Amino acid sequence: MTRKRKIVLGQIGLGSWGPNLLRNFITGGACEVRLVCDLKKSNYSKLGLGKNGPAFTEDYRDILLDPAIDGVVVATPSETHYGIGREVLRAGKHLFVEKPFVLSSREARSLVNLSRKVDRVIMVGHLLMYHPGVQALARLVRQDKVGKVFFIGIRRRNLGRLQSDCSVLWDLGPHDISIALMVVGRKPVRVVTTGQSYLQPEVPEVAFTTITFEGGIQAHIEESWLAPERERELVVVGEKGMLVFDELSAAPLKLFKKSVRLRRRTEVKEFDYLDGGTDPVEVATEQPLEAECRHFLECIRTGREPISGGANGLEVLRVLEAADRSLRHGGRVTALRGRA
Ligand SMILES: NC(=O)c1ccc[n+]([C@@H]2O[C@H](COP(=O)([O-])OP(=O)(O)OC[C@H]3O[C@@H](n4cnc5c(N)ncnc54)[C@H](O)[C@@H]3O)[C@@H](O)[C@H]2O)c1
Repeated sequence: MTRKRKIVLGQIGLGSWGPNLLRNFITGGACEVRLVCDLKKSNYSKLGLGKNGPAFTEDYRDILLDPAIDGVVVATPSETHYGIGREVLRAGKHLFVEKPFVLSSREARSLVNLSRKVDRVIMVGHLLMYHPGVQALARLVRQDKVGKVFFIGIRRRNLGRLQSDCSVLWDLGPHDISIALMVVGRKPVRVVTTGQSYLQPEVPEVAFTTITFEGGIQAHIEESWLAPERERELVVVGEKGMLVFDELSAAPLKLFKKSVRLRRRTEVKEFDYLDGGTDPVEVATEQPLEAECRHFLECIRTGREPISGGANGLEVLRVLEAADRSLRHGGRVTALRGRA
């Protein structure tokens, strides 16, 4: 029997987020991380990876030139994603790139086309698509447990962590937009976003986005770096039931068999409030980051398009770009332009 060869990875970027990815790839045991890179060697030294850990370089081209490396994990600042991502693919390596994928749909489309040409996987770090709770919720929606979906609401608030090089929309938006697309499962057609900068000019710290999908379903998304408490909630309101996913709760997913119906054939409008109780829904305990890293390796092995593959990355980028245009024009209704 032939043993499967371990996938070999390299990683670029060991700032605040990169080490989380690195730890998961190393401890997962399904791959070998051979070489890692950062502009600052101290970022590598402080990880204390030991003799058996990956080697270090300050020049990411060393990773691209190593023929044994199958895939590269990119956790550098967003403005570098396009340039580095393009070089990774051109070197014939699979690409995992952190969110936001790139900074425009034009760049996203260019990387997606390149990945098809060189037959390599792109996976974008839309981490919450790998959260077992979000996946269970999306499954219940598909199984018609809440009936026709009216709208969904997403709230992601905390005090910080403030960024100075991008708005709250570009920081948190990729997560929420990717979840909205996954749960609604329809084509987004227009976006309205308002927001406000309070501390830094031109860097909104709060954003309110409404995405309208084909068929009229809406996703209302609130993102804020200025809130007293950490809140991460996803609510689905449907014709015959409702779902609440509270990422921070011990029982994070609940199905409410609650609905309201307009009574038929009455002169005055009357409503029936139906309450069939609430069921907690069991959610697997796997960490989203663990599932995300495992999925990247599986997709390299099988050649399968990742859940958050290039096509998903492009779709999220198109919505993000439209939301950003709307925000810059004071909340103008903005149609989604261009090819998906
Ligand atoms: N998925 C998530 O939940 C999540 C959470 C936080 C950050 N992120 C994303 O991860 C990425 C990195 O964020 P961060 O907070 O770690 O940023 P950071 O600034 O803390 O770290 C980036 C690192 O990249 C290194 N770097 C930059 N250019 C490089 C180059 N050319 N070669 C080698 N190294 C280079 C820098 O030295 C730095 O250490 C961003 O895209 C961010 O949006 C994702």
